[in-house]
Order: sequence, then C-alpha cells, then structure tokens
Amino acid sequence: MRRPFIAGNWKMNLDRASAVALAEGLAKQAEAVDDVDLAVCPPSVYLDAVGKAVAGSKVALGAQNMYHEAEGAFTGEISAAMLNDLGCRYVILGHSERRHVLGETDADINKKVHVALAGGLTPIVCVGELLEEREAGKTLEVIRTQFDGSLAGLSGDQVARLVIAYEPVWAIGTGKVATPEQAEEVHLDLRKIIADRYNEEVAQAVRIQYGGSVKPDNAAELLQQPNIDGALVGGASLKVDSFMGIVAGLGG
Ligand code: PGA
Repeated sequence: MRRPFIAGNWKMNLDRASAVALAEGLAKQAEAVDDVDLAVCPPSVYLDAVGKAVAGSKVALGAQNMYHEAEGAFTGEISAAMLNDLGCRYVILGHSERRHVLGETDADINKKVHVALAGGLTPIVCVGELLEEREAGKTLEVIRTQFDGSLAGLSGDQVARLVIAYEPVWAIGTGKVATPEQAEEVHLDLRKIIADRYNEEVAQAVRIQYGGSVKPDNAAELLQQPNIDGALVGGASLKVDSFMGIVAGLGG
C-alpha cells in the first residue's frame, strides 16, 4: 500500500513571520492526522525558520529546488548538503515554473535527481503537459519524454523511492483542475511506463501526486482515484484551513 502524501509548494510567497505562523498552525493541526505524509516547501530563505517551526511534528520539510553540484562557485545556488543541513527530507525538482519560466531541461532535472538521491533527499519530480500539447493529443507522449529524460539512469530501487507529481501546466494556478478521470488516466499511464522500464513492483511502489488547482472542494474526488497517491498543492497550501481541508479529503 502506498502511503498518501500531501505537500504544500509555497512558491515565492509569504514573509518570514507569516511562513512561521503557517508552519506552526499546520504542525498543530497535523497532530490529529494519521497515515498520511505531510510536507511544506517554503522559499529557501525561510527553510531554516520553518524547519524549526515544524521540528518534531508530523510535517516534514522540503525545498523547491536545488543545484546539481556539491559545492563551489555557483552564485545563488543551493546544494543537496545544504538542504540536508537544514533538515529537508524532500526537494521539488522540475516544477513546471522552473521548466517553462526558468528554462530547465529534462537533462538539468536528471542531474539534480541523481544528486538529490545520492544526498539522501527524496525528489518530488514534476511532469506535465501544456494546454496546446493536451489539445494536440500529445499528453502521454510529453509525459513519457519527461519521464525518460528526467529520470534517466536511475535504478529500480531509486525510482521506487521517488515521488512523481503529475501537474498539467494548464491547471497550475488557473483554477482549472483536471477532472479525476483526466488525472487518473495520466497516473495510470505513468505507472505503465514505470512497469515497462522497470517492473510492476517498482510501478506499484512509486507515489504519484496530482497537482494543479487542488482545493478542499475538489481534493476528495481526485484523491480517491486508485492511482492518485496525494497532492502537490500551491495556492491552497498558503492557509492552514485550506491545506488541512485537502488532507481531510483523504478520509472521505
Ligand atoms: P496550484 O499550484 O495548486 O496553485 O495550482 C500547484 C503547483 O504548482 O505545485
């Protein structure tokens, strides 16, 4: 059985005081939550403060990005060891905003995935198609290309430990959520790709989150799909009530 996993991607939002207050609120509410993994991914400058606020709670810490080199002259970048040092368990890699706004390629993401795993972090690797790709009937082709490129050279054991987030780009921050059927179709296809490249055991082990306009009122339907193992939540992760309302969708 895959354990559900709900993670909040705070993106470039909040200030220090509101980040800490949100983290403290979530840590408190999470006391009543069982059988679900929870994480928050604050802006990197607040990782330390948020990590302290969630320490000892059921809320884990994740980063939104990292660099693929261990150390050195890489101005502005952050290493896996630094994230570990701050208590991160997860790191989001290949988010669509990094792919499409900041120009990250599958090859860049692949390097980061290898380094994150070697550094003991669990990558949350994002894949997802643009609206024009969906409309052209290319969704599955795009997902396959991103999977093969971003996850090249990994062993089955490594893939089994990953989290994959399927985030259709047209659903991110738009309020336009994929239907449970649209999401489930891609999640099932991802599992088929993994079974094909590795084996059924690996395919059944990987947790695949859905992301893109997940809110308390649409979460339950999505999370009840057999191949949707959780959610990567942007906007609705910025308030305690809406994030916990999504977590509550797992019970429904
Ligand atoms: P959203 O973002 O929930 O605001 O659509 C999701 C994400 O980008 O991870």
